[in-house]
Amino acid sequence: MWESLKGYVKPGSVEDGLVREIDFSRLPAHVAVIMDGNGRWAGQRGLPRIEGHRAGSRSVREVTEAGARLGLKYLTLYAFSKENWKRPRPEVVRLWGLLREYLKREGPNFMENGLRLRVIGDRAGIPALAMRELERTEKATAANGGMTLVLALNYGGRAEIVEAARAILRSGRVRPRDLDEERFGSFLLTAGIPDPDLLIRTSGELRVSNFLLWQIAYAEIWITPVLWPDFRREHLFRAVVDYQKRDRRFGDVHAREGGEA
Ligand code: IPE
Ligand code: IPE
Ligand code: MG
Repeated sequence: MWESLKGYVKPGSVEDGLVREIDFSRLPAHVAVIMDGNGRWAGQRGLPRIEGHRAGSRSVREVTEAGARLGLKYLTLYAFSKENWKRPRPEVVRLWGLLREYLKREGPNFMENGLRLRVIGDRAGIPALAMRELERTEKATAANGGMTLVLALNYGGRAEIVEAARAILRSGRVRPRDLDEERFGSFLLTAGIPDPDLLIRTSGELRVSNFLLWQIAYAEIWITPVLWPDFRREHLFRAVVDYQKRDRRFGDVHAREGGEA
């Protein structure tokens, strides 16, 4: 078993069994998660939606630690979409407030665990107080060598692609015949980050909701009915075990190795 998981999973537990099934030489380098179901989780308990988001931030903490201990290189969490501004104002305000609380609380853990933070999304539209906290954490963790936690905030996949096209035109440096997929990708917010190998969506919805549209071209998709606030390390391990059973063919007739950055 991976050194960093010793003492983290209890011997004989469900998590332990799952971890033993994992082939650590074939880990997904990048796991992306559409964290969904906070509102329903709260509704089932007769609580306001924000309590679901609060509970969801505990799952963020657990999955981040589990991902880092597992040895993932990148973990991307979809936390706020461009479309989420349509929600009632009080929910939106509290969501950004929760993010700030989360950053204040987790900042020290980022350093302790060598995590790097990177934000993708339309930064100009992120509330100033939250943006300040995000930039501070990005700077403080920039030289860390562990897993990169990518937070998708005020993020929209189509907007990202349009913005990349604008940046290419503005640069005036790319001739049409020189523009290929790799070059285009270097203008996206995820420049330098390998495409997700595994995309997880919680709460059973069968859609991608404008998340990483370009980057998930060949991601393996794993959907669970579990609501995000109930998502635990065991679910992440299960997703990785299932991922490793898939044949990733990338259009070929045989399985091909992909993923490892
Ligand atoms: C996901 O939970 C969190 C965000 C989108 C910020 P939801 O708030 O979408 O929860 P449901 O889908 O209403 O249950
Ligand atoms: C997707 O969840 C966005 C995030 C997880 C941040 P939504 O709850 O906003 O997606 P839809 O509306 O169900 O597609
Ligand atoms: Mg939702």
